Amino acid sequence: MPTARILLTRRWPGEVEHYLCERYDLTVNEQDTPLDADALKAALASHDAVCPTVSDKLTAEVLAAGAGKVKVLGNYGVGVSHIDLQACRRLGIVVTNTPDVLTDATAEAAILLMLMAARRAGEGERQVRSNKWDGWGPTRMIGAGVTGKTLGLVGFGRIGQATAQKAHHGFGMRILYYSRKRACAAIEARTAAQHCASLDDLLENSDFVSLHCPGGEQTRHLLDATRLDRMKRSAFLINTARGEVVDEVALADALRNRVIAGAGLDVYEHEPCVPRAFLDLENVVLLPHLGSATLETRVAMGMRVAENLERFFAGLEPEDRVA
Ligand code: 8YV
Repeated sequence: MPTARILLTRRWPGEVEHYLCERYDLTVNEQDTPLDADALKAALASHDAVCPTVSDKLTAEVLAAGAGKVKVLGNYGVGVSHIDLQACRRLGIVVTNTPDVLTDATAEAAILLMLMAARRAGEGERQVRSNKWDGWGPTRMIGAGVTGKTLGLVGFGRIGQATAQKAHHGFGMRILYYSRKRACAAIEARTAAQHCASLDDLLENSDFVSLHCPGGEQTRHLLDATRLDRMKRSAFLINTARGEVVDEVALADALRNRVIAGAGLDVYEHEPCVPRAFLDLENVVLLPHLGSATLETRVAMGMRVAENLERFFAGLEPEDRVA
């Protein structure tokens, strides 16, 4: 059997590229910049496997170019809202993702944003770096505490649960969650998590609201002006999930008008575009999609893709098949 032709749409950690290079006919996008639609089409039409990331928009139209050639998409990441899964199913393209290995890294990022937003860390750092800090004062830079507060999780899958663990056992936080499916009693018991019957119920009762649901059309602008208005005026919104879950215009208004106290964002609706309105606000922490950005995690993500490809090309069901 000829060696499968594999394309990575971005550079991956060296050891993973090396591992794949030893086993496949590997092409890597040396420029490491997102491929446009034409480049993606060409890749799909000429490789057995394409390994995309969140920066690749795999629409039905783009995917159609790979019909009959590309057999599998080994997505580097757990979220797959940038891939039209229905089109993949129609075209007979298998899709895999990388769950588990980035759970803790992403939960850490949620905690990081929660602390940064609550304690005004970004604002404080900007003061120091711009030589505007003129010293300590009893009433200066007062933020909010995290310990003992209520954390509301929207979505209670792997990452939501890991965030709950860190928040509950690290900061004694009370955990509320809202998800389509209620978790089993054993999972709830780990963090004494209480299921909320409605999203509004969670929003009204949380000091911090952290998003851990998938992106895509089903959750697009789940947090809109009306929902933001339900939150406490003292509350913070944290998003490490997907940018499209939040209506960014409504959030910027809510932050400017102090409808909520602050926000911490790692993801944006049209990455890498960050709305100008956020840049002018002090009460929002803005990170550049760092959720999985630790070396061990990025290597593990690559190896997880490699395992999925190995099973696929051996004629077995890949562990992490999502389409
Ligand atoms: C990834 C993420 O690094 O896995 C995900 O869904 O959001 C990130 O942490 C990124 O999406 C790579 O595809």
